[in-house]
Amino acid sequence: MNSYRTHACDELRLSDAGKQVTLCGWVDTVRDHGGVIFIDLRDRAGKTQVVFHPENNAELANNAENLRVESVIQVTGKVVARLKTGEVDATNPDLATGEIEVDASAMTVLNRAAVLPFQLDRNVANEDLRLKYRFLDLRRTEMQRNMILRHRITKTMRDYLDEQGFLEIETPILSKSTPEGARDFLVPSRLTPGAFYALPQAPQQYKQLLMVAGMEKYFQVARCFRDEDLRADRQPEFTQIDIEASFITPEDIYSWIENMLKRVFKESVGRDIVTPFPRMTWKDAMDQYGSDKPERRFEMKITDCSDIFANSEFRVFSGAIANGGVVKAINAKGFNPSVGQVDSLTQTAVEAGAKGLAYIKVRDVDDLKEWKSPITKRLSAEEVEALKTRLNIESGDCIFFAAGDWEQSCTILGRVRLACGEFMELLKGNDEIDLFWVNRFPLFGWDAEEQRFCAIHHPFTRPVPEDVEKVLKGEISTDICAEAYDVIFNGNELGGGSIRIHEKDLQDATFRALGLDDATIEEQFGHLLAAFSFGAPPHGGLALGLDRVVMLIGKCDSIREVIAFPKNNRGADLMSESPAPAEPNQLRDIHIQVKLPEKLRLKLEAEKAAAEAAAAEQA
Ligand code: AMO
Ligand code: AMP
Repeated sequence: MNSYRTHACDELRLSDAGKQVTLCGWVDTVRDHGGVIFIDLRDRAGKTQVVFHPENNAELANNAENLRVESVIQVTGKVVARLKTGEVDATNPDLATGEIEVDASAMTVLNRAAVLPFQLDRNVANEDLRLKYRFLDLRRTEMQRNMILRHRITKTMRDYLDEQGFLEIETPILSKSTPEGARDFLVPSRLTPGAFYALPQAPQQYKQLLMVAGMEKYFQVARCFRDEDLRADRQPEFTQIDIEASFITPEDIYSWIENMLKRVFKESVGRDIVTPFPRMTWKDAMDQYGSDKPERRFEMKITDCSDIFANSEFRVFSGAIANGGVVKAINAKGFNPSVGQVDSLTQTAVEAGAKGLAYIKVRDVDDLKEWKSPITKRLSAEEVEALKTRLNIESGDCIFFAAGDWEQSCTILGRVRLACGEFMELLKGNDEIDLFWVNRFPLFGWDAEEQRFCAIHHPFTRPVPEDVEKVLKGEISTDICAEAYDVIFNGNELGGGSIRIHEKDLQDATFRALGLDDATIEEQFGHLLAAFSFGAPPHGGLALGLDRVVMLIGKCDSIREVIAFPKNNRGADLMSESPAPAEPNQLRDIHIQVKLPEKLRLKLEAEKAAAEAAAAEQA
């Protein structure tokens, strides 16, 4: 291989027996079998057993025995076949190199490992500990697999996009705020006192400007920064496969993404996926699944029951309808929830904005006394009959209701549906791949707090052709549809995009619809509007969340498992201990004074003291 080693640790076979070799790597295990010392030597490629016979070289064997695991060594020796006779079989069929071992004649310790903070061959429950020593954590087989998978997937996407004529172009990290719905990370400028760069939430405006610049097809493995609350599928910095192209319709985006994902699944995990992906409108997704990223691998669809209860004596239902709302229901077939589960489902509903969660446990479908529920007494015989047919109710089913505003009722039942699915373990062992598009999103939402319209995607998204005129005329409503699409994989949003506005007047009208005044438009988006007045091609694109793609294909629980150095759920990098206070002279250079409110300062000091005391106690 090179002057350090002749082979990698997964390379040697029986046919190499007799060769003199040199290997390098980490000490995976050290075992003593009756005085003979065995070391499993590991590098990224695999493992090779190295044997030290004390009768050949007592000092060498002694040195080997005293090595701590994870030390780095270089070993020279002869490849020998492992013993395999009628009675004795020393081979290891689980190891690619299991038929041989290296009989060591020399060893150099390149780096001695200290006692490890955790063992690498076990699952470590304490994620903070793993993150603090991420360089060790990444040595674990599982993490190596994840990093390799991520590389494979990224490379497949790069190759595919290159073949399709996309150019990989980098865009600035120090840039200007561009709205994607999260908070910006700001970087103070030294050269322009008092001014700040914003880290990009996405390269959205740059990629559109590249279209105006005539690049026609762009992609980037783009780092994005969003200061938002973190979850299993969200990091403050993450990576998008960001794509934009000119002179295209959504059909072009659909087929590029479908073909790219087809190749990714095939090459990374050997799975065939079906293309083209099915498509579903946002309205249907909400109506049937109560989510804009439906989990469709189990049924339990939301059913409208408004007509049944329009004149009901049960005011919660009839009142909702009288107020222009709906009554929706799901039938969790064969679900007999415990009291605790009903409480938890009610909590889920309340968190989604419900006042309560009406339910019926149907023990015996033909005996109304066996319809266990706080609401059955208030339902008429006709209503019960109609429900039976509408929801195909059988003995043993459990029905949940939401009454009120359409979107909110759907959302509530959507969450209850997912929670029921978990309680019922409906997806246990499910290996299906459900990839599909959700499109025809609303372009605008209504921000009740600020009493104005807001952009559902981002303000550069184009209305569908039939709604363009309305936006231009300022006839704004939440019924206007966006030419936008999300790609969904097993109930997760993998990516999203849209056809963009490329005309100055339409972009102007959209900003105005969002309540921006002339000065703000000019200050924030003047460059974009200027670009649109010098020959802008029609264009559109999409961004896939790379971390999510890898996480889902790799069947990991969190995107942290597929990011080499992620932040923990408090946004901290425990290994480098960032974020951290800056030196006074650094702050002076960038004209920043840190002034925490007194209460916060005291609280932080108390927390710090407590953490230090805890650490001291542990030590
Ligand atoms: P959007 O905001 O939908 O669109 O982001 C695209 C995809 O990026 C992933 N993603 C994240 N992944 C990890 N952590 C996060 N905090 C995070 N936020 C988003 C998701 C999401 O689907 N500029 C537009 C794209 C376009 O219009 O072309 C954009 O950024 O998988
Ligand atoms: P009440 O008439 O307030 O006693 O409510 C009867 C049942 O309806 C209770 O189980 C409530 O949790 C439930 N409930 C109340 N409001 C709603 C609503 N908007 N949608 C669905 N269920 C509700």
